[in-house]
Amino acid sequence: MTAHATIPTDEDDFIPPYPFRHETQPSVIKLIGLARKNFLSIWSQRDFARRFMSQRVLRTHLFVCNQPDVVHEAFQSNHQAFQRKSPQMRHALEPLLGDGLFISDTETWRKRRKVVAPIIHGSRVPGFAPIMVDTITETRDAWAQKGEGTEIDALEEMAHLTAEIICRTIFGRNLGGNYASEVVQGFSDYQRHIDQIDIQSMLGLPDWMPRFRGSAIKQSVNRILSVLDEIIDSYHAQKESGEASVIGGLLEARDEDGRPLSREAIRSEAAVIFMAGHETTANTLAWTWFLLSKSPRVAAKLHEELDRVLDGRTPTFQDVANLPYTKAIIEETLRLYPPVPILARQAMEDATLSGTRVPKGSIVMVVPWLMHRNPNLWDKPDAFWPERFLEDSKRPNKYGYVPFSIGPRICAGLQFGMTESILSLATLASKFSLELKPGEDIQPVCRLTLRPGNDLPMILRERA
Ligand code: HEM
Repeated sequence: MTAHATIPTDEDDFIPPYPFRHETQPSVIKLIGLARKNFLSIWSQRDFARRFMSQRVLRTHLFVCNQPDVVHEAFQSNHQAFQRKSPQMRHALEPLLGDGLFISDTETWRKRRKVVAPIIHGSRVPGFAPIMVDTITETRDAWAQKGEGTEIDALEEMAHLTAEIICRTIFGRNLGGNYASEVVQGFSDYQRHIDQIDIQSMLGLPDWMPRFRGSAIKQSVNRILSVLDEIIDSYHAQKESGEASVIGGLLEARDEDGRPLSREAIRSEAAVIFMAGHETTANTLAWTWFLLSKSPRVAAKLHEELDRVLDGRTPTFQDVANLPYTKAIIEETLRLYPPVPILARQAMEDATLSGTRVPKGSIVMVVPWLMHRNPNLWDKPDAFWPERFLEDSKRPNKYGYVPFSIGPRICAGLQFGMTESILSLATLASKFSLELKPGEDIQPVCRLTLRPGNDLPMILRERA
């Protein structure tokens, strides 16, 4: 993409933090060590501008697609060959998600996608929006109680907010609230104990070989699954209240043969939606607060839009379409800090990519962290500059901007996540600014998702 909108002067630019970039590529052993700590720190400066890369690590061939045409080839035209998630991802999430949509493939994925995607589809978002608005205004009121000058952990606040929203959406407003904190705790324990780098798979050991799993993982899985069971059991009681919920949609769904989903499948899909929809949005919002605190120019334009369009009102779903700058800020945040910074697949058969042979079993990656900062696609790739998203005709090629992935496996909750992020930012930023606590050094860290370290200490400032 070339920028056609007015390019801000250099003094206007805020260049947010990124890990050290190597001049030349480190050794494979060093790379594995770096990847285990922070997957973002393995890339050299040159990698950002490359179109297609390949590398052998232990017994695995790795391929990275870093330009829209190769991304299209891998995730759209060659979906059949590259639809399977990487063994790392599958082994990390399988204990919790079972055969859920996020990590399944072929027939199971195809059938589940048909059932699950419509339940959270964009057309359903207007129905979920009142739950979002109520939950966000609760956070706004809680912040007002805390008052001017209070220190908050913006990451934890956003995690709590998005967990409440997704819980109330999945389980219904009445049930969701009661179980939210328990499910959130279970998920965050689980994430802490899983390892993203599956050395067994890198060594070429087969999928069926058992992986070592600590008892902490089993405990958190049991905790989450038993809460999900309880909720499903009590669904019938809450159904009387006429409340719309994802779990209701799953219980009432029929597959293409007219059969209902099994109890296990319903549990898995509820866990998928919770996991996929909670931390991603929380990280997006936390990064947005950080970026705004560092860019007074962007914050002032945001406040101008909110004051003009909302005039002190709480926004509703109908306002979202009238907040283009708010949306552009979220889109720019998703470019700079994509919550899912690596999209990795395993070749299910021998195939080719960009004319190169890709043997069965290879890992094929699209790395939004790299491609979203590819200097051949973006002006000022490391700068926070939401204006680049403002004009429709100047928006990036959709295969070059992939925070929600792309192709048949694109995020099923894209509209949900965008609407939730815009409503949250608009509601909270109408009343508050957040200032980074002095002396804090915020750095991006990647485990399963890309987050601003373990916490984000900020000071609440009430807007006049
Ligand atoms: C800003 C927020 C969000 C971001 C950035 C995001 C991003 C993504 C990405 C990148 C994937 C594909 C992962 C991969 O290929 O490895 C994905 C899949 C998925 N997401 Fe989201 N997501 C967000 C919000 C949500 C929400 C709110 C929901 C549910 C309400 C959701 C539900 C799903 C589901 C079900 C899948 C699996 C789709 C499939 O494999 O067919 N996401 N998301």
